[in-house]
Amino acid sequence: MAGYAVEIDDVTVRFRSKKRDVTALTDVTMRVEPGEFVSIVGPSGCGKSTLLKLSSGLLPASTGDVRLFGEPVNGPRKDIGYVFQKAALLEWRSARKNILLQAEMRKMPAKEAAARADELIEMTGLSGFEDALPHELSGGMQQRVALCRALLHRPPVLLMDEPFGALDALTREQMNVELRRIWQETGTTVLLVTHSIAEAVYLSDQVVMISARPGTVAGVVDVNLPVERDYGPTMAEPEFAKATRHIRDHLGAAAAAE
Ligand SMILES: Nc1ncnc2c1ncn2[C@@H]1O[C@H](COP(=O)(O)OP(=O)(O)O)[C@@H](O)[C@H]1O
Ligand SMILES: [Mg+2]
Repeated sequence: MAGYAVEIDDVTVRFRSKKRDVTALTDVTMRVEPGEFVSIVGPSGCGKSTLLKLSSGLLPASTGDVRLFGEPVNGPRKDIGYVFQKAALLEWRSARKNILLQAEMRKMPAKEAAARADELIEMTGLSGFEDALPHELSGGMQQRVALCRALLHRPPVLLMDEPFGALDALTREQMNVELRRIWQETGTTVLLVTHSIAEAVYLSDQVVMISARPGTVAGVVDVNLPVERDYGPTMAEPEFAKATRHIRDHLGAAAAAE
């Protein structure tokens, strides 16, 4: 593996249909180092989801280049994990079998997949719920299952599109703390889209701010907080206040309204 984990170079994404032409992203350039945690914030419709789809190869750039670990992205990439706002679990399969779906799709060796599933179940605090069906799990637990499924094949890049948007505030805080720990344990590179400025700052090394459509990088904030972060104390740090204020000022009313 060489170079940046994710490299987006002067990218434009246009959606053309008979009815309208939409430029979702324009002149977007960003770089993510291997192992970095980067959040993407910006108003609704500014192209955040488009940016993740672009990184995964699910969507082609209209112009510009996308590279993962130095390799051009020309189609859907297998070496990524994806987590969405909805856990999208199969209702008839247990938590464990939902996690193992990833292994079946990738035809991973069964033993290796089972061992990794057990590790992840333990890491995400799902032990004891392996056999539960999705409807028997809370929203937070369902997202943990989705996270385990996304991490099963040890992807070097994890893409998360508003993964905690549907959770209540307390569960969301707890998931933030757990995600930070899991990120440290796995060493994976994370690109997280979120509407929560606090979540972005608490979790990230860098926060990329995208402007209203057509989306472009309006600024990048380095979060100079220690690696070891403790939810309450971290939020009380002057650096936390500084970073959140900076982002809020930059995004202005658009972010405040969301
Ligand atoms: N497949 C598509 N076809 C046409 N327009 C799209 C498509 N996907 C996204 N768009 C448009 O691109 C813009 C950015 O969308 P999106 O990336 O979903 O924004 P965000 O995730 O920031 O809310 C929006 O105006 C949206 O309507
Ligand atoms: Mg979106």
